Order: sequence, then C-alpha cells, then structure tokens
Amino acid sequence: MSTDLVLQTEHLKKHFGKVRAVEEVSLQVRRGEVFGFLGPNGSGKTTTIGMVLGLLHPTGGRVELFGQEVTPGRNRALQRVGALVGSPALVPYLSARENLQLIARLHPDVSRQRIDQVLAIVGLSEAADRRAEGFSTGMKQRLGLAMALLHQPELLVLDEPTNGMDPAGMREIRTLLRSLAEQGVTVFLSSHLLHEVEQVCDRVAVLNKGRVVALGSVGELLGKQQEVVRVRVSSPSEAARRLQSLPGATSIKPNGAYVEVAGVSGQVVVLHLTSGGIVPSEVSTSRPDLESLFLELTQETA
Ligand SMILES: Nc1ncnc2c1ncn2[C@@H]1O[C@H](COP(=O)(O)OP(=O)(O)O)[C@@H](O)[C@H]1O
Ligand SMILES: [Mg+2]
Repeated sequence: MSTDLVLQTEHLKKHFGKVRAVEEVSLQVRRGEVFGFLGPNGSGKTTTIGMVLGLLHPTGGRVELFGQEVTPGRNRALQRVGALVGSPALVPYLSARENLQLIARLHPDVSRQRIDQVLAIVGLSEAADRRAEGFSTGMKQRLGLAMALLHQPELLVLDEPTNGMDPAGMREIRTLLRSLAEQGVTVFLSSHLLHEVEQVCDRVAVLNKGRVVALGSVGELLGKQQEVVRVRVSSPSEAARRLQSLPGATSIKPNGAYVEVAGVSGQVVVLHLTSGGIVPSEVSTSRPDLESLFLELTQETA
C-alpha cells in the first residue's frame, strides 16, 4: 500500500446487538490533508472513530493506519496518532501546563520545550499557568488539542472538537487545523456541521445511517449536483404534467408559482412548455449549494 495513505477503512461495520451503528464505511485519508467526516447526529461518526482508534472491535471490515492493520493488542501504529474525542480529560485543579506535564509522563520523548511549543500552537501560552477549571469551553478544547499534539502525531483524529464552542472559537480551531496541515499533520475531523467542514477540509465523506453516501472534494461534490431550472408559469401543476413527457428530466417539482426541473437545460424546458401552449413568464437556473446536497443526502427517506 502507498505510504501516502495515512488511514484506510475497508467495509467497516459495527453492530451493537440490533443497532446497526456503522454499516459500510470505506475511505482513504492521504498524508497532509484535512479530511472531513460529516454526518448528522447518530450517523455513526463516533463509532467509526472508535474503531479507527482501536477502542472498538469492528463487526466487519478493517482499519489500516500507515499501512498496518489495527487489531486489538497490535496497535503500534496508534503511537503515531493523536486524538481528541469529545471533551478532553483534564484535571481541573491543575494548570494547563501541569495537565500537559501529566500526559508527557506517558511519552518518554516529550521534552519541556515541546510543552511550551504545543501551548503556543494552540494559543494558550498566556494562560499556561492558570487552572484548567477556569477555562472556557474553547480553551478546554484547545488544551485537549495540545494534549493530542504533544507526542507529535502524524495523524490527528478529532471527533466534533468544536461542540459547544462559539463561532469565534470555532474559527480559531479551523485556522489552527489548516496551519497544522500545512506543517504536514494529517487531520481527520468529524462534524455534524456542514459549514465547519466545508471551510477547512480538502475532502469530505458524508455519512448517513452508517454508510458513506458521498465522498470527494467540496468542489467535486458540488460538481455532481445537477443544475435546477426554475420556470414561473400561470399553472404550475399543468406545466409539471406537461414536463412529465420531457426526456431527460430527472425531477419535476411544482413549488408555489414555479416548477423546478432537473436534468435538462433551461432552453429545452422552455421549448417543451411553449410547444404545449404554456409560456413561462420567468426562467432561471441554479446549482444547489452544499447545504441542500447535504440535506438531500442525509434527510430521512421514507
Ligand atoms: N455502545 C453502544 N450501544 C448501542 N448503541 C450504540 C452504542 N454506541 C452508539 N450506538 C448507536 O449507534 C448509532 C451511531 O452512534 P454514533 O456513532 O455515536 O453516531 P454519531 O457520532 O454520528 O452521532 C446511534 O444510533 C447510537 O445510539
Ligand atoms: Mg458522535
């Protein structure tokens, strides 16, 4: 396997009794990218991450980190991974620096300078000697990131790291992740918030009910979206009926005073309608944004 693949999952599956938390997750994360793992609550993100980190045993499929399979008791590759899953385990009455010193004891190679370095990376140098219990949610998460970065991991796995943070704090984390990626750290970032992932990730996998339903760069995902033609007509239901016979039209939806058609050009729609005696008073085309794609991919389908 190419050394450029930092993380690979193949047909990963996890069932808890009758609960099918993860059904089919196959993805590849390349060195140096920020990879977004996007899905609504309950779609299986944390369960997948548990398997990636060797904390949960898959019901099916496999995980490879740096080309080595992750199996219980054989997880040397995990030494090259840093993780922040949920809120970090901080000792509240210790300072940020003391919390890091505590973690450093587990890693023989971590120097005193490295502690100062990670404090600077996450922007906590000034607050280094304050007790963690007084920290805001954002500061606690940044301290958690510092802990995850302490042993200079090549891959950083973050499960919804900005949960409970305000927009300014979220922006700081995004900037931080981009600068880590520029320094060569690969980032795997889960989120249920589209805009968070969209702004920071090179590539995105969209998860729904335990399955990857879309995978690619934000640009690629949008490119696969079909243009929608919107025409204003006096009788949308009549126009919609007429459009049923238009070859290539993949979706026809009356919407208020309009009909929306996908799969064909605006010109073809207008021609087809006028030849049937329906003259649109307005025509426009639009490409749905990522938000609507995400909703379409992840909404309940009865
Ligand atoms: N230990 C468990 N036992 C039973 N069901 C679980 C367990 N962990 C997660 N689940 C269920 O699996 C599904 C996916 O959960 P999770 O991976 O936490 O999703 P996400 O992180 O995307 O919100 C949910 O329906 C959740 O209730
Ligand atoms: Mg979760």
